[in-house]
Amino acid sequence: MMLAIILIVLFALNTPINAHSWIEQLTLIAPNGTFVGTPGYPRGNYLRSTSGYSDTTMTYLIPPGSRANVTEILPTDKLCKDTQQEQKQSDGSPRLEASAGAAIALRFQENGHVTLPQNQPGKPPNRGTVYVYGTTQPKTGEKFLDVHGAWTADGTGGDGRGVLLSKQNFDDGRCYQVNSGEISGTRQAKFTHTANQLMGADLWCQQDIQLPSNAPSGKPYTLYWVWDWPTAAGADPTYPNGKAEIYTTCMEVDVVTTVGKQAVNDEYDIDQDLNQAAIPAQFDSLGDGVSVQASGTTPAAPSTQNTQTTLTTMARSATAVAATTARRVTVTDWETSTSTVYMSLPT
Ligand SMILES: *[C@@H]1O[C@H](CO)[C@@H](O)[C@H](O)[C@H]1NC(C)=O
Ligand SMILES: *[C@@H]1O[C@H](CO)[C@@H](O)[C@H](O)[C@H]1NC(C)=O
Repeated sequence: MMLAIILIVLFALNTPINAHSWIEQLTLIAPNGTFVGTPGYPRGNYLRSTSGYSDTTMTYLIPPGSRANVTEILPTDKLCKDTQQEQKQSDGSPRLEASAGAAIALRFQENGHVTLPQNQPGKPPNRGTVYVYGTTQPKTGEKFLDVHGAWTADGTGGDGRGVLLSKQNFDDGRCYQVNSGEISGTRQAKFTHTANQLMGADLWCQQDIQLPSNAPSGKPYTLYWVWDWPTAAGADPTYPNGKAEIYTTCMEVDVVTTVGKQAVNDEYDIDQDLNQAAIPAQFDSLGDGVSVQASGTTPAAPSTQNTQTTLTTMARSATAVAATTARRVTVTDWETSTSTVYMSLPT
């Protein structure tokens, strides 16, 4: 057992830091914030243990590295990687099964993008923004610009085929790769966990989302994950006009009929194993509509924000504090009715 853990840690330490990110796993979140059940995987998944696996079997970059103009995104650019065009799973990587309205964690590795921010000058302090779009009407050959920046939370944006379900900071405030950087050291001490076979000694990042409560059961529901990680103009001499850098993962969840009732975000257990835990701030705000949530922890990156951004961040933190004092509890019986109760909790 001890040897296995040592090997896992050694393996994790040897992981290259230049790898980019994709959704590695989808997991249901129980009402107490704990990951439960059998995980699911994206379309055409390559597990890290699959023969032939390398980062490039899963990463998908927009605009492609071959484009001369590094800020240009074309209307013809596809949203999904070639191996993720069809709604097909690979052997050993089934879809997640979830009921409508379920809370789900989408997990990805930070690969140094959070803990070693000095490696890429000009990147945003939140390490980019992650978006999840949802649809029951995906298209083979889906175009990136038909979805990203087009679909809205209320479903009226773009061609109206889908919705924006979530928008978060890439840095979830906890995640880290084990490396010798200061941020990693601080987080290893603060967010200690036992190395496991899946993550090794690293702690993966997550984006916690909620499936729409009206997602039809007996069908797959499509999720498009978009990580928008631009380089600002003038920050890196290689890219005087900045650079667009976007990665996506395309996936489905099989929506199954709910048995009984589900409660969401009313009983998060703050003292639990971090290997299996949702991010409290993200989990608590499920169902509150889309906005970038204050992470509740100090931002990882040294701040290069201007005053306006700082003020916005402070306003967001104030909102987050207000939101925790009057936490919303939603108990839903999916077959018949939804009731929303506002509860004042002692602070
Ligand atoms: C590169 O693309 C951007 C965005 O489409 C455009 O504004 C810019 O003019 C292009 N640059 C060149 C040199 O074509
Ligand atoms: C949270 O609830 C799940 C499902 O009921 C359970 O398996 C898990 O042990 C609970 N977590 C904690 C930390 O008690």
